Amino acid sequence: MEDVLTPKALITGITGQDGSYLAELLLAEGYDVVGLMRRSSTVNIERISHIQDRLTLVSGDLMDEVSLINVLRDHRPREVYNLAAQSFVQASWSQPVLTGETTALGVTRLLDAIRIVDPTIRFYQASSSEMFGRVRSVPQNELTSFYPRSPYGVAKVYGHWITVNYRESYGLHASSGILFNHESPRRGLEFVTRKVTHAAAAIKAGRQREVRLGNLDAQRDWGYAGDYVRAMWAMLQRDTPDDFVVATGETHSVRELCEVAFAAVGLAWENHVVVDPAFLRPAEVDLLIGDATKAHRELDWKCDVDFYGLIEMMVAADVHALQR
Ligand code: NAP
Ligand code: GDD
Repeated sequence: MEDVLTPKALITGITGQDGSYLAELLLAEGYDVVGLMRRSSTVNIERISHIQDRLTLVSGDLMDEVSLINVLRDHRPREVYNLAAQSFVQASWSQPVLTGETTALGVTRLLDAIRIVDPTIRFYQASSSEMFGRVRSVPQNELTSFYPRSPYGVAKVYGHWITVNYRESYGLHASSGILFNHESPRRGLEFVTRKVTHAAAAIKAGRQREVRLGNLDAQRDWGYAGDYVRAMWAMLQRDTPDDFVVATGETHSVRELCEVAFAAVGLAWENHVVVDPAFLRPAEVDLLIGDATKAHRELDWKCDVDFYGLIEMMVAADVHALQR
């Protein structure tokens, strides 16, 4: 028989970086965790293999609303965390329509499914600092206007506003977390932090000679994914839904990232980093720095890992993985 006292949550994007950390957190909080996975021809659960036997993994896709309705009907979660997206900014220029279908319209499909099946479900939308784009003020907070600079950023603006709109139109408990960049040893290899930490470890091990990068001047507010999933959960424990910026409040350039990562393995970054125009973007987000005062105050949230601790953690994990 179903245990009505055990809270149940559905995570879309459970195979991704954040999905894996959020699943660990929810399990530790005593939840039954249901993870939505899209069908693929190969198994794609590397990030959650250590907790796989404690999860219920179900098939579905943000492109297919019926699959979402069926999953909600079959599992009746109390909370839904929408982390699924085409999340790589660079790829959004080569696949702008797919990015819009998944990252923008996918949010509407899921919100509609919730409205149809159980409008009391609490909903979290993974919004992004990429929405600030060509920033209108520094630092960015919940009141800063959006100026997205990529098809991904535009899609996230849609996802953010449809979440606000369904909250206001239908009274859904729908919150949007405007999260600044967050990284970890589980970060995809295409994102710049992991690309650099993995390269530093591989060059140190003699397996690679150089790493090719794009814009070294871009500045990001980089935090640790394990810290940021706590803010997602805290948003859904509030009586009232709302929107929150989640950030460290510090910014660093890609150049500084290279310095710190290569120094961690005793190398000088200038000897190994090659600037390659192939990695420049058609439009760039030059500077992101978040003001998370509202999250500190109303969610009692703070980050435990700073930029230097994060990059050192990632380099150490890559060194360890290569030694294995
Ligand atoms: P990620 O590692 O790229 O994970 C994305 C997840 O979405 C994967 O599980 C992927 O499944 C899934 N997915 C993609 N298309 C789907 C579809 N059509 N239907 C169902 N699932 C689909 O991203 P992340 O770093 O964990 O980020 C989580 C969310 O937060 C994303 O929405 C991202 O845009 C947003 N966000 C991230 C950051 C950040 O710095 N990490 C900052 C702000 C916002 P596969 O494994 O099958 O590809
Ligand atoms: N990926 C990548 N590869 N980025 C590079 C490279 C490179 O070789 N060289 C320089 N960069 C610069 C990019 O131009 C960008 O300014 C910065 O490094 C960060 O790029 P990414 O790590 O790809 O992340 P992002 O900021 O574009 O997007 C991430 O953060 C967003 C939140 O602001 C993603 O996780 C998004 O899903 C997320 O919403």
